[in-house]
Amino acid sequence: SPNGEKYRSEYHFTPKTGWMNDPNGMVYINGDYHLFYQYYPDSTVWGPMHWGHATSKDMLRWEHKPIALYPDSLGYIFSGSAVFDLKNSSGLGTAGNPPYIAIYTYHDPVGADSGSNTFQSQGIAFSLDEGKTWKPYDENPVLESPGIADFRDPKVMNLPKEDGRDNWIMTLAVKDEIHFYESSNLINWEKIGDFGKNIGAHGGVWECPDLLQFTAPNGEEKWVLLVSLNPGGPQMGSATQYFIGDFMDGKFIPDDDLIRWLDYGPDNYAGVTWSNVPESDGRTLFMGWMSNWLYAQVVPTKTWRSAMTLPRELSLFDVDGTLLVKSKPSEELLSLRNQTFHISQSSPLPGQAFELEAEIDSNTFSFKIENNSGEEVHFSKENGLVTVDRRKAGKSNFHPDFAASHSAPMSWEANELRLFVDANSIELFINDGELVMTSLVFPESPYTQIRIENGLEDLKIHSLDPVMKSTD
Ligand code: FRU
Repeated sequence: SPNGEKYRSEYHFTPKTGWMNDPNGMVYINGDYHLFYQYYPDSTVWGPMHWGHATSKDMLRWEHKPIALYPDSLGYIFSGSAVFDLKNSSGLGTAGNPPYIAIYTYHDPVGADSGSNTFQSQGIAFSLDEGKTWKPYDENPVLESPGIADFRDPKVMNLPKEDGRDNWIMTLAVKDEIHFYESSNLINWEKIGDFGKNIGAHGGVWECPDLLQFTAPNGEEKWVLLVSLNPGGPQMGSATQYFIGDFMDGKFIPDDDLIRWLDYGPDNYAGVTWSNVPESDGRTLFMGWMSNWLYAQVVPTKTWRSAMTLPRELSLFDVDGTLLVKSKPSEELLSLRNQTFHISQSSPLPGQAFELEAEIDSNTFSFKIENNSGEEVHFSKENGLVTVDRRKAGKSNFHPDFAASHSAPMSWEANELRLFVDANSIELFINDGELVMTSLVFPESPYTQIRIENGLEDLKIHSLDPVMKSTD
């Protein structure tokens, strides 16, 4: 392959070169989806964090932009969010030109090495030219460390007071809990509550939270709290859990103490949602980092590391009285479809970027995709377990835990599936995302054949346009 680009994703976001982790600062303004990301341009492993930047009209066709935020005297620029300060409540713009505001964590590497526990704090930066250039606020940090080492990843939402006054809520990961803060101007923050003691999975540190509002299928208003956890995920390493309940006056009150996972595959971490999506659209749009801290820094890509997941629309659905979050592939993905092939059983595949759609006959299925070197990924549902087996998917000697078979419980009926395959990834969506499994794979050569063993009907394969393949 030319220039070490063998595993370059064709329709997932990747950095041109260098290291990437979490998506950051996702905000939609005036027709543009902004994506910032944890970025270290000088190496393909983690290092001093910057915010890389890209924009898109559809969350699929991305334009690379100049780096938005560089490490400064307060430290590296860790994960965080961005908002459109429409009413200029911060005073950092003007009424006629409201500021774009990024809220992020400063990580002071010197403090971290010296064993202090005050090395993470929150800062803000603003843009007055539609996100082209960013200036850190003069009086950063806006939220000092309370003396807890892990104090990071602010996700800010606009939640006006009942009397209409502007109001912002910050959801912050603090060790293995969540703290909520409130501000009228994005500068002065006051703690209003916390959540997470004695509930949820605590096998590691809590990171990259998000607080979301949904209407449940029965019409009730519900809140969902996304919390990424590392390590301690169901497939080892990193994963995202979530809680469903109510949020009022800084208190998140969960409906139950069930542990729920957003994606049962090993490779969807630190994902959050776009802010400021217009009410006329009404969707809750999500994207995650398609990797796992277990092996993210040693996967066999050469000039760059990590891709983002496909964009997904989150909503609530109900299984026998229990609410769960569904992650549906965003409808923009239909625009990638090029040629469609109707197949009945086994068939050749149209290249390394394709989508498979199929009906599931009677709640069980089994099939695989494979190449000529005997590498394969096997998919099944049997006895209430959905399994993606990548033990023989391709290269795996870079980490002892990569070659594994991953299963997820699905007690309810599976009726149909969609599978998105790209140069180094596989995303399985059952019932339009009621169960999702995202997995990296590194085949020596692309998979060329699909073999249906049982349970699938009405099969369609769509070749997908390589909208991100070119790296210029
Ligand atoms: C999650 C994370 C965040 C942190 C960032 C650093 O993957 O550890 O908690 O802000 O990555 O790059």
